[in-house]
Amino acid sequence: MAIASESQHGMWSSRLMFILAAAGSAVGLGNIWRFPYVAGENGGGAFVLVYLGCILLIGIPIMASEILIGRAGRQSPINTMIEVSAASNANPAWQGLGWMGALAGFTILSFYGVIAGWAISYIFQMGSGSFTGADAAFAGNAFSSFIGDVGSVVGWQTLFMAGTIYIAARGVGAGLETTVKYLMPALFFLLVILVLYAAFTSGKFLEGASFLFSFNVEKLTWDGVLIAMGQAFFTLSLGMGAIMAYGAYLPKGASILGTATTIALVDTAVALLSGMVIFPLVFANGLESSSGPGLMFVTLPLAFGQMEGGALFGSIFFILVTFAAITSSISLLEPAIAWLVEKRNASRVKAAILVGGVAWALGLGSAFSFNIWADFHLIGQMTFFDVMDYTSNNILLPLGGMLIALFAGWVMDDQMAREELDVSPGIYKTWQFLARFIAPLAVLVVFIMTVFA
Ligand code: PFF
Repeated sequence: MAIASESQHGMWSSRLMFILAAAGSAVGLGNIWRFPYVAGENGGGAFVLVYLGCILLIGIPIMASEILIGRAGRQSPINTMIEVSAASNANPAWQGLGWMGALAGFTILSFYGVIAGWAISYIFQMGSGSFTGADAAFAGNAFSSFIGDVGSVVGWQTLFMAGTIYIAARGVGAGLETTVKYLMPALFFLLVILVLYAAFTSGKFLEGASFLFSFNVEKLTWDGVLIAMGQAFFTLSLGMGAIMAYGAYLPKGASILGTATTIALVDTAVALLSGMVIFPLVFANGLESSSGPGLMFVTLPLAFGQMEGGALFGSIFFILVTFAAITSSISLLEPAIAWLVEKRNASRVKAAILVGGVAWALGLGSAFSFNIWADFHLIGQMTFFDVMDYTSNNILLPLGGMLIALFAGWVMDDQMAREELDVSPGIYKTWQFLARFIAPLAVLVVFIMTVFA
């Protein structure tokens, strides 16, 4: 069967729109909420160094692989894998990759929607002025009593998922493209303002910077390396087909490697800038850098509370976090929605409601993990939320990414890959070397070392 030159789901109107959409997928809670706290928990600098290495050597080649497979197939990741495997005379079992990605998408959304719900609630908590002049104890207590209230956590999660479904249902152009076009530049702009604020008011800017950039290798464990690698996959939205699905809507002729590098740069900049906002404020307020998932919800409100106009400004910040999260969560749904539309001929609206509904239901387990199921440990000491987070970031995404690299590097028809990438022979060889050897081996070594170390 000939592969279509355009996707039935619609196309990005330009390469820039693809960059914004993919950067919208990449930039999300992973950058603003997760990166600072996992870096904090894993000792800062050494963790950041491994993370940056993973972005460069594993992240960019795999992102290019996902985009090129997606654009070659022009369908949902499951059907793209079927088509591209067939065109490459490869085993149809490679479609399993598409299925694994859809599973990872549900797993991630299950906790993503909950945390995004917290962010929406903080728009109003900040806006009401309740943090104005508050101290650290107040901010800490406000957060624990908020997440302890099952009704609010589920309510906000439901609202966020409804918003995600609504935008996803409107389709690629009217839904996603319109959303990312305005929100991504706005988010970036506000972050810069916040970094300046942190630099000029905290008095601890250098301390924050040296926490992130002083590379103390002794602090690094294999577990820390795995978490850094998992974070690199998570933050770039790799290993589950989201970028592959988006790549299917990329116009022919747009440079894939250049695009992947741009997206990775934007994403890394946002993560580091978020750290440069949060850590100086953490240190200025005498808080712990390793305080876990609550870092953004305790420290930032505190900081805004001390600021002139902080109620308004803080609430705008959380609006933007919410939209950053929405542009990511839509990409988590896209592979499954596109597949339902192709396979069952479902309307996009129905597919979005169904897929989003399942993700919402699974997410209840994560919502309960902070209140009624707080003492329920699914595996070892891990709550439902912890298990979803750990499995997707540290197992499903790296495994999916490794298989994508192997497929693009070894299995996919060489001519097809060469045409899609459309670069000089030297650059093609470099990409192929990274996709064939470096990215898969790195994932393998880290997996083996965390099991045996
Ligand atoms: N990259 C997103 C973030 O950093 O918040 C999360 C994410 C979105 C992961 C889409 C995976 C994905 F497919």
